[in-house]
Amino acid sequence: MGLGVQVPRSLARRIRQGQRWVRRSEWEGAGLPVLPAGSWVQLFEKESREFIALAYYNPHSQIVARVVRYDQGSVDVEFWYGRFRQAWDLRARWLAEWPDTNAWRWVNAEADGLPGLIVDYYDGYAVLQILTLGMDVQRDAIVEALRRFPLKGIAEKSVGRARQVEGLRDRVDVLWGHVPSVLTIREGSVEYLVDWVEGHKTGFYLDQRENRLWVSRHARDWQVLDLCAYTGSFSLAAIFGGAQRVVAVETSRKALKLGEQQAERLDVWDRIEWVQADVFDYLRHLVHQRARFDLVVLDPPPLAPSRRALPNALRAYRELNRQAMRLVRSGGWLLTCTCSHHVRPEVFIRVVYQAATSLPRRFRVLAWRHQPADHPFLLSVPETAYFQALLLQAE
Ligand SMILES: C[S@@+](CC[C@H](N)C(=O)[O-])C[C@H]1O[C@@H](n2cnc3c(N)ncnc32)[C@H](O)[C@@H]1O
Repeated sequence: MGLGVQVPRSLARRIRQGQRWVRRSEWEGAGLPVLPAGSWVQLFEKESREFIALAYYNPHSQIVARVVRYDQGSVDVEFWYGRFRQAWDLRARWLAEWPDTNAWRWVNAEADGLPGLIVDYYDGYAVLQILTLGMDVQRDAIVEALRRFPLKGIAEKSVGRARQVEGLRDRVDVLWGHVPSVLTIREGSVEYLVDWVEGHKTGFYLDQRENRLWVSRHARDWQVLDLCAYTGSFSLAAIFGGAQRVVAVETSRKALKLGEQQAERLDVWDRIEWVQADVFDYLRHLVHQRARFDLVVLDPPPLAPSRRALPNALRAYRELNRQAMRLVRSGGWLLTCTCSHHVRPEVFIRVVYQAATSLPRRFRVLAWRHQPADHPFLLSVPETAYFQALLLQAE
């Protein structure tokens, strides 16, 4: 499938070693092929004419080619089905230790051999996110392959900056079957509402599953502060784990409304206080009030959307962590997270350490968590490792 194009030997070697992205700067010098954006191409090494990989191509993007397969097989419905099946089997194996959930990331783009495609599974519904033009042109085959699985419906929620970069418009649509705009999923004893249409991403932060479980296992009698709460998944996990009371802070009115709706539905409305506020302001307010919590969850949005934004983002992370630490009671916990891939692990540790040393308090680290196995990442594409969480205990 696809026209053959030649790449220089050094680039061919890196692709063979597992590099899945070809950046413009790596290929431009040797002359980019004149092909329409979104074309699927076979890459050959220039000197030896040996086949290297099958990729899709967009000369308008900074990542001009993304590798999809390392053999010359075709890309048809069978191919998509095969990749979806592999990804499904992996989740079935890993999530066997999670018999209590019916929601997970089914396809995590590059790390499942499908660059630019995310599929989240919500109790029988698949919600996909197509991020690149090369993937966008394959929508029909993707849907046909997904329909071979026992699904109730397939929806698409493809929005955001990544698509703009690829020259694509947002698309929010039901692709097959009937998909209610708000879905219900379960994790342990908690039922969550997922608004895939209006919510963030495909509707839910599946990558926090393990941390939610930790909270629900330990929260008995706790007072909890859930910062950047979105629809309050940590708040509900804490309440169902026996927490006395939770304060959930979030700027998005829509997210808070869904949070309130969930709490009403589960009849725990009187134990969660929903606060619409900027987290920086509200933290200052709580510090001024000398408030104390047994657990503070700090899960800010990606504060470093680009490398250029990193210095400011690190200042912001430091300040948020510093203020959050001031609110943890002695012996209490801080679960602090980052979902910016520009914040590398050692940098995150340093920022949290700097926050702690700026206070007359000491913390120890009890766990350092990364994204769960349904969000695998590739060593050869460090950008796919985007999530970290530190669980600290105050002395
Ligand atoms: C990573 S998400 C949190 C996900 C949530 N903890 C969960 O597990 O469902 C970050 C959240 O921070 C919110 N947010 C962004 N800027 C904020 C601000 N300045 N103050 C409070 N919340 C903010 C976003 O609306 C988003 O819901």
